[in-house]
Amino acid sequence: MQTITLRSETDFEGWRNAARSLLQQQVAPDQVHWRVTGSDGSLFDEPDRAVERPTPATFRVPREFLQLAQRVIVHRSPERFALLYRLLWRLQGEPRLLSVAVDEDVARAVAMAKSVRRDVHKMKAFVRFREVPADRGSAFVAWFEPEHRIVDAIAPFFMRRFAGQRWSILTPESSAHWDGEQLRFGPGVSRRDAPQGDAKEDLWRRYYASIFNPARLKVSTMRSQMPQKYWRNLPESQLIPRLVSEAEQRTASMIAAAPTGVRRAGLRPSQPNQQPSTASLEELRISARSCRACPLWANATQTVFGEGPSAARIAIVGEQPGDQEDLAGRPFVGPAGQLLDRALKQAGLPRSAVYVTNAVKHFKYELRGKRRLHKKPLDAEIAACHDWLERELAQIQPDLVIALGATAARSITGKTLGIERSRGHIIHRDGQPDLLITVHPSYLLRIPIERQDQELARFISDLELTRSYLHADSEPATPDLPPPQTPRPEDLARSPRRP
Ligand code: URA
Repeated sequence: MQTITLRSETDFEGWRNAARSLLQQQVAPDQVHWRVTGSDGSLFDEPDRAVERPTPATFRVPREFLQLAQRVIVHRSPERFALLYRLLWRLQGEPRLLSVAVDEDVARAVAMAKSVRRDVHKMKAFVRFREVPADRGSAFVAWFEPEHRIVDAIAPFFMRRFAGQRWSILTPESSAHWDGEQLRFGPGVSRRDAPQGDAKEDLWRRYYASIFNPARLKVSTMRSQMPQKYWRNLPESQLIPRLVSEAEQRTASMIAAAPTGVRRAGLRPSQPNQQPSTASLEELRISARSCRACPLWANATQTVFGEGPSAARIAIVGEQPGDQEDLAGRPFVGPAGQLLDRALKQAGLPRSAVYVTNAVKHFKYELRGKRRLHKKPLDAEIAACHDWLERELAQIQPDLVIALGATAARSITGKTLGIERSRGHIIHRDGQPDLLITVHPSYLLRIPIERQDQELARFISDLELTRSYLHADSEPATPDLPPPQTPRPEDLARSPRRP
């Protein structure tokens, strides 16, 4: 019997060198005992030096096997080294072995690889970093309990994703640390050493509660996608029992409330360019319900027209209604809308005082299972809807229009503009309302969490540029004046134009 001693539980190189050497000597799998340094109480023993020096291989190992072995090696099962060597041994005489799914060894290895892949996926999804004070500012620390020994394998993923932050991932068996330049690995720590929460978690919980859709809840799927063992490390898990228990009632009220004013039989198809230029806002809203100017009406629940004070000084234009807007029949009521409301409030513009609409009035999506995923409108769809927007704005006559994102900017200016270059200043246009172009709030929801604070601050400061429009009939704002107080909604309604 030969004993092979590996350096660590995840020593793939050591296993590979040993396996190569054993094959060279034609040592049968049942003649090998695999162990890890220190794993059976002998803390100071050394890896087997004889097998560290690889001998040239005499048969080509299929790449597929190496990929499988790299996954299986981090599985927690103590049998993995022996199983992999047995497979390798058999591959010499059975080159197609890996395609025999019913083979007991193959099935076992494939199941182990699958379990590791799932664990990797869960770790990517459920690691939650907490901000902690550190010597130069702050760092982010996460506690996680993976099922298998995947920390070394997954750390490069977090390094790429959060390259600009200092972070540590702590687990009971090992830890990974990124200081912005170097990735290091260390021993495991106890849960007690991990931070338990930070100030941002309330914000995260509020966001989670706002995007939780009770109508889509499937408790069994939720349990399998988000197994309960991960819950204690997730800030949002505190909310889940309440959200689940309220789901039925909330769904019932959603059904009762929505959709509103939808396709009624007998509506005559309308086109935006057939509307008289004198049509009032209410007439436009009613005609838009039966718009057939592009195909998007067919899959949407209803037309989502703009809303807000008809004498608003500021109008905001988004891209198109999302899933929740489509059901509710109102613009910006879903997650992007809630973020917009908060940003407007912080910029001193209450939502109730601005007119809010979209460049495209129907929800465009693709079905993924039961989910309706947002799809960007085509130029032709933006163009088909443009007249609604133009007539709508002609009725409101705002002093300033805020375009959120590229679709809105395209509809308003007729040009494809880079948002980064166009944002941050007011554009004065002859005979037309002034224009501010900035990012769409859903962009802020998509970017990596470590950039969100900074980008939200930029978004708010773009919106703040519009505050002087509230005081257009009073003193011009100067940089020396204290920032304007949060205006009352009535301040934002345009005073009647002087003749
Ligand atoms: N995104 C938009 O552009 N508009 C909405 O109404 C909602 C989300």
